[in-house]
Order: sequence, then C-alpha cells, then structure tokens
Amino acid sequence: MAEKTFYLTTPIYYPSDKLHIGHAYTTVAADALARFKRHQGYDVMFLTGTDEHGQKIERIAKEHGVTPIEYVDKIVAGIKELWKILDISYDDFIRTTEERHVKAVQTIFQRLYDRGDIYKAEYSGWYCVPCETFWTERQAGAEHICPDCGRPVELVKEESYFFRLSKYADRWLKFIEENPDFIQPPSRRNEMISFVKQGLEDLCVSRTTFDWGIPVPWDPKHVIYVWIDALSNYITALGYASADESKFHRYWPADLHLVGKEIVRFHTIIWPIMLMALDLPLPKKVFGHGWLVLEGGKMSKSKGNVVDPVLLVDKYGVDAIRYFLLREIPFGADGFYSEEALVKRINSDLANDLGNLLYRTLTMLEKYFGGRVPAPGPEEGPDADLKRVAQEAGANAEAAMDRLEISAALEAIWELVKRANKYIDEVAPWSLAREQKNERLATVMYNLAEVLRTVAVMLVPYLTRAPQAIWEQLGLAGSPAEVGWQAARQWGLLTPGTQTRRGAPLFPRIEVKKREEKSEVSEEVKAPTQEKISIEQFAQVELKVAEVLAAERVPKSKKLIRLEIALGEERRQIVAGIGKSYTPEELVGKKIVVVANLKPAKLMGYESNGMLLAASLPGEDEEEHISLLTVDRDIRSGARIR
Ligand code: ME8
Ligand code: MG
Repeated sequence: MAEKTFYLTTPIYYPSDKLHIGHAYTTVAADALARFKRHQGYDVMFLTGTDEHGQKIERIAKEHGVTPIEYVDKIVAGIKELWKILDISYDDFIRTTEERHVKAVQTIFQRLYDRGDIYKAEYSGWYCVPCETFWTERQAGAEHICPDCGRPVELVKEESYFFRLSKYADRWLKFIEENPDFIQPPSRRNEMISFVKQGLEDLCVSRTTFDWGIPVPWDPKHVIYVWIDALSNYITALGYASADESKFHRYWPADLHLVGKEIVRFHTIIWPIMLMALDLPLPKKVFGHGWLVLEGGKMSKSKGNVVDPVLLVDKYGVDAIRYFLLREIPFGADGFYSEEALVKRINSDLANDLGNLLYRTLTMLEKYFGGRVPAPGPEEGPDADLKRVAQEAGANAEAAMDRLEISAALEAIWELVKRANKYIDEVAPWSLAREQKNERLATVMYNLAEVLRTVAVMLVPYLTRAPQAIWEQLGLAGSPAEVGWQAARQWGLLTPGTQTRRGAPLFPRIEVKKREEKSEVSEEVKAPTQEKISIEQFAQVELKVAEVLAAERVPKSKKLIRLEIALGEERRQIVAGIGKSYTPEELVGKKIVVVANLKPAKLMGYESNGMLLAASLPGEDEEEHISLLTVDRDIRSGARIR
C-alpha cells in the first residue's frame, strides 16, 4: 500500500430525480483530483454519496404516494448510474440511510450531548425547507424570505436541541487565522470570517415536526438536523465510532472537502466546530468552487433536457462532457453553460487541437515510416522549444493541480498540444519527405509521437477514454494510467521501433448548422468528420465531369501534375498530387470528376481551380496506388454529377 494517503470528498447529494450538468461538476472535478493524486502514487480515498433525510424528501415521497425510503432508493440508483456514465472513480459511496451512518451519527450526537455542547430549549424562528436552513428573525427580514435562495421561510416554534456554536467562535477565528489555507479560494475565507465576526448563534439541531431523519437516541421524538447528519458522513464512511476505525485512522483528517460555493458556510463553520467539540483533527482544506450557470440565468431542473448530463454524454461522449466541465469553470469563479459553448470546446480543443495532432502524426508516420516510430537524430530548429514546452506543460499542470486550478492545468497541457501542431506547420514534414531528408524527418516524427505519449499520460486525470485510445494508437502496451504521472515529466521514454496503429479520429468535429468554411487545399491531413451530412450540404458541392486537355509535371515535384481541363466551354487549370500513380501522357483525354466550386488554392506556385476526385487506401505506398474517378459512358464534359 502506498505510503502517502489522500482523502477527498464531494458533498453528499440530495436525492433529486433530475441532476443537471451543473450538479455533475463537483463530482467530475473531485474525480479529476482523485485520479491526479492516484497518478502521483497516493493511496486515495475518494468519497461521495447521498444526503437522504429531511422534511423535503418526506413531503415529496408523500406526494408520490410512496414511503421515503422507496422514493430515495430509486433516485439513488439513478445517481449511481449517472456517476457510472461519467466514469466517476469513487472508492466509497455513503448513503445517510445506511445503518453504518445512522448508528455513528447517533453516537456523535450522544458524545456532543455528554460533553454539554448540546442542550434542550424552545426554538422559535424561521426555516427554509428547500435549503434545510434555520434563520433568525433578523436574517429572514421583514419579508420572511430565505437569504440564500429567496424563497419564503416557514415560522417554526418547537422544543429543540441546540448545539453551542457560540462557545467556539473565538477558537474558530484563531484556527482560521493560523490556517490561512483552510478555506479556499481566499475570497470565500474573508466572507466566512466576517460572518462569524457578526456573532455566532447556537444552532438548532433537532426537529419534532417530521419523522424522516435519524432519531435522537435518548429522545426519539426528535430527529437530528440534516446538516449534522449530513456533515458527519465524512467520518462515518471511514468507520468513525464503529467497531472498526482502521480507515478512520488511516485517512482522517480529510485532505480536501470539495463543495459548491453555496455550502461553504456549513463546511467551514458548523463542521469544524463539530469536530472541535468531538476533539477530532480538522480537515486540511475546504474548497468552494463556482457554479456552472446558464446564460441568462441559474441552472435549474425546470430548464429541462438541455442540461441533462445523461443526454449530453449520449450525444457528445463522456470525455467531451468531462473536458467541458473541467475546462469551463475557472478557479473559484462561475462558468457559463450553453450547448454552443460545449460544441465550441469540442471542436476547437478536442477535435482540432488534440484530435488532429494525433491523426496528423499517425498518418504521416504511416506514410513515411510504415507506422513505425523512427529513432530520432540530432536536435535542430524548433525541437528544443518543443521539448521546453513539454517540460513546462508537465510542471505547470502539476502546480495548477496543487492549487486546485483544474482548468489552468488543462490549459497548461493544451499549450503543448498547440505547440506541437505549430511545430508540424513549422517543420512541414511533407516537405522533408519530398526532399528526402529522412534523418530530419525521423527526428520530427519521433518528437511528435513522444509529445502524444506525454499528453496521453498527462490527460489521465481528466479524460477517461482518450488517453487510453491515444496510447493504443501509439502502439503502447498497458495503460497511460499505470505508468504514473512522472512518465509525463520525462522526455524520450517512447521506444523507437514501436509499431503505431492509427484508429478512428478521437473527436470527430461536431457540425454546426451554420455553413462551415471549407478547408483549404493543402498537403496536410485533417481528420474526417463522422457526423452525417444533409442532402443540402452535399448539394453545395458542385461535382462535374471534366475532360483532360493537357497535362505536365510540376517542375521539382515528384507527385504534382498540372492539368488543363474542359468543363463544357470553360477551360481551367487544376493541380493534383497524382504524379506517382499516373504519367501526364496517360491522363490526356480522360473524362474525370472534379469539384468545380472549390476555392482556388496555390500548390508550389501554381493555382489550382478545383480538385479532381481519386481513390486511395491509406498506407505506406498510398501515393503509388491512386485511382482516378471517371464516368463509365461517354458523356460531354461539364455534365453535372449528383
Ligand atoms: O448541497 N454548478 O447537495 P446538492 C456547479 N446535500 N455545481 C453545482 C451546480 C451548478 N449549477 N448545482 C449544484 C447539497 N452544484 C447537500 C450537501 S454535504 C455534507 C451536503 C453542486 O445535491 C453543489 O454546489 O444540492 C454541490 O457541491 C453539489 O452539486 C451537490 O449539491
Ligand atoms: Mg444545493
């Protein structure tokens, strides 16, 4: 077992039948952090679960005509299914209705009572049912609305147990002063300090007006306040106050409680004071993250399917959704959700940057080296800069993760992905191939494959499918997860001779409704899309029969041929890379098929007005086996093809 441990938690979720994409954020972010720590070699304990008690659940179950446990059982199954769909690698899932939790919470409540930190009194005040929060007259204000959510609060008057929060205010302030990193980011820390400085009142911690909760052991007409119940999960899941406390001793105190900003107050005030009262060590850090908000308003269930994470994963894939969530919410702030923003991220970062880097690299490796990773020669030109950026990407991603800046970590990794794409453009491997500079070409292709290896290792915490796919396409055995994070920090671990296996594009581009600009004719390779196109889209491509009137080789080019063609009355010049398969002589007189409405492009100084269609099989000798499309009956040039 690894020496260093890391205990990380998400909040336990309210059983809601429609978790939206924003809900998924806390758990996906925690999962990335957990995977990162495991990658670094820590023995990680990653806990999540569900928060199933309270008046709200009791009411909803009644409305559905079922018992509360019947109601929550079904919903919890759905939540577990969602975490499975999102590849959440939790080590334990705690339900507050489980016996291990209920028993331990009763012991915790008893211990607090025995120490004199819980006492009985009359409660009179305001309660927000949806937030499960008590408010004083002053806090609820003249309108009697919840300061958190703005919904009406209910007046409650009942005999209750109280927890002596007030007694611990000074100790809390001292602790926060001595542990400035405890609450993150710092803005939330300042908010909490001023909250406590306004004066802490004792907290009402039991209710008698409903039953769906954990009974106070010595006074069972009271149920324990849900937040006391819920917060305790972080230690009851470890077996605290049970016959076997070994996990508690191994993992407590928690290294990190990751929570949404709206529940920072519970986690940084009530929870630490509960632990102080129990004489237990406090967690090392509570991080309050921002929200994913819909443009024009907060995300909510009523906004419907657009934000259903199950549908989104179905449509775009788990990696795309994980990437979006982790990339889109910057450190501590809110991020915006729209399907457009999601598609933009997929197309630019995943399809264009990462997907194309893999596709271009492996296609060129196939073309120039039969798919085998060549041995690199001496460093030249931009090689040093590429390696420097690779080094920095690892260092910066690691530093960002240590600060919990997940989005910045991805940004750091993308610096390398983008640098590698730029490197391809700078060194133009196709020119090296044409000029038969094989040693240089070998170095370039090795460097690109090596970048992909390190990127695969670096991406392990964030994406759950693509790193393995990259690994396999590179022809590597095992998995990028098992080699560990350090394997991303070292250059040159890829063994020359490795036989790569190009596969399907990692992230096909998502076609958006707006007409896409056509890609320019060039010798570089772009991954094809796997999206289906409409008949209208196809109709935009003007295919015509052309007759080759004349043909000659482009000077100094092995494969380019300049053709003069007739499209009916029209004469045009096109330039095509078919010179390794056809001689100019055999082309003259052929009726071929061309794309007539392509933007003009320049190839080695010659303008090409259109593109001919030809078939080829990808492979080492692809260029020698091109077959031109022709028509099988005599038809006049200029004829439209559809
Ligand atoms: O608060 N963007 O549970 P919960 C980002 N049971 N995060 C969001 C979000 C959004 N739009 N909407 C929700 C509870 N979340 C309590 C916790 S812990 C002892 C008890 C996050 O189901 C939210 O911030 O309301 C929280 O971290 C998590 O989803 C669960 O929220
Ligand atoms: Mg909430």
